[in-house]
Amino acid sequence: MADFRLPKNSRITKGKEHKADASAARVKKFKIYRYDPDSGQNPRYDQFEVDLDECGPMVLDALIKIKSEQDSSLTFRRSCREGICGSCSMNMDGRNGLACTTAIEDIKGDIRITPLPHMDVIKDLVPDFTHFYAQYSSIKPWLQTVSTTPSGKERLQSPEQRDKLDGLYECILCACCSTSCPSYWWNSDKFLGPAILLQAYRWLADSRDEMTGERLDALEDPFRLYRCHTIMNCANVCPKGLNPAKAIAEIKKMEAERTL
Ligand code: SF4
Ligand code: SF4
Ligand code: FES
Repeated sequence: MADFRLPKNSRITKGKEHKADASAARVKKFKIYRYDPDSGQNPRYDQFEVDLDECGPMVLDALIKIKSEQDSSLTFRRSCREGICGSCSMNMDGRNGLACTTAIEDIKGDIRITPLPHMDVIKDLVPDFTHFYAQYSSIKPWLQTVSTTPSGKERLQSPEQRDKLDGLYECILCACCSTSCPSYWWNSDKFLGPAILLQAYRWLADSRDEMTGERLDALEDPFRLYRCHTIMNCANVCPKGLNPAKAIAEIKKMEAERTL
């Protein structure tokens, strides 16, 4: 009979418990995934009690407080605290999002925090973005032109042409969408996933770019583009309110209508 149990070294064990002060009136429990590949130990869930009267309102505030006061070895990424840099993406209570824009009070009961799903873990809540960034690089995310402009002249866009970039340029490459996508979970070696395809469309939609044919050639592939099955997890989870599935549909439409 097939054995579907995780290998022994992958099983998550019970970790340490960190209690709040006895005087704390509003205690919230955070169950946080801990893993250090260098330690040779299995992953575990540590539990931290946080006094919400002494903590800021966001999940990132709680993580920073835990790291400052209870366990300085807790490892996670963050930078802007404003939903701009995309560093603090993680899974909170089963949903991907940004820790700095997710309010603690919006999550009922204990809060379980894990790294973004289906990515290798460097340590604790820090996933390895190497492959994701290599995929980003593969779509050549910059303006490509062949024509020349008179010296000192910019390539202008009409307001209507510029409007076409709305809903695309705002992407902060947090990977919440790609790591929510079942197709990306199973085929991330070949499928580019929603984040990178939204970025690919951002350049296809740019009136100044002159490599449309080459860009479409590079995407025309059963795996790179066509593994999207319109499950829509990507649009449901994007913390910037973007719709990668729509961008993917636009690329498929361009592929179908292309004459180049
Ligand atoms: S719509 Fe496509 S890219 Fe988005 S989650 Fe579904 S399969 Fe993935
Ligand atoms: S589309 Fe949204 S969820 Fe996906 S990487 Fe960009 S900002 Fe993050
Ligand atoms: S810290 Fe920058 S998006 Fe959360």
